[in-house]
Amino acid sequence: MGWWKRFRSGTKPPALPAFDGPEIALGEALAVDVHSHIVPGVDDGSANMEQSLELIERLVGLGYSGAVLTPHIHSDIYPNSKHTLQPAFDALQARVAERWPQFSLALAAEYFLDEHFADCIASNDLLYFHATDENGLAVKCVLFEFGFHEPPMNHEQVIFDLQMAGYTGVLAHAERYPYWHRHPEEVQKLADRGIWVTVNAASLAGAYGPEMYRVASRLLENGTAKMICSDAHGTRHMDSLKAIAKSPIVHRWIEQGDARSRAVTF
Ligand SMILES: [Fe+2]
Repeated sequence: MGWWKRFRSGTKPPALPAFDGPEIALGEALAVDVHSHIVPGVDDGSANMEQSLELIERLVGLGYSGAVLTPHIHSDIYPNSKHTLQPAFDALQARVAERWPQFSLALAAEYFLDEHFADCIASNDLLYFHATDENGLAVKCVLFEFGFHEPPMNHEQVIFDLQMAGYTGVLAHAERYPYWHRHPEEVQKLADRGIWVTVNAASLAGAYGPEMYRVASRLLENGTAKMICSDAHGTRHMDSLKAIAKSPIVHRWIEQGDARSRAVTF
């Protein structure tokens, strides 16, 4: 649509990402990447050790000092557990320690919020990572996601149970739930209850279209988002990290000091 038609119809052009800032060392600013699928051969992320090492090499090149690897745990599609994931993680960690001894790795997971997740909470069988909260207290963090097509059922109870069990919930890619795009109060409600809200670098790079970009950038600008994550499944996600290193919106968010990934501990 041309500008005159837009003017006449009163519709705003879609917001598009800008990459006209100076390129910053994104990895140094964020310190730790907190959401990725880099454990080889366990989900829809990296298929083998070579791919995993290539992805870690990209993170090292961007200036990151560590990464929390978060394979999918989804009872129907990826029935992973600590037992299925630990050997593949250990093998990767050994190779990374040889090549980049300064780079820290931790194994956690990305839980799909379903009955299986509720069972894992009830039996205290969770993969988590360590961090320090805004008061300087040590916390145990559990990354979880919702489905993309339908709003979650019973999530408030499950999240309450997670918190009662002593964990800090971390919401994966809060911008990727279309049923909440016109209901930002739903994400805000979770943030107000102490859930750490994250957004994906690829959304901020525009890779998922203008709507995901709009929601992700809004979450940065209003201070709701506490982490920007790669959610890396392949090298295309590393390209998104490189792209947003020039994003003025990302620069402003970093300057506000909101990057809680800096508080991850190993
Ligand atoms: Fe993910």
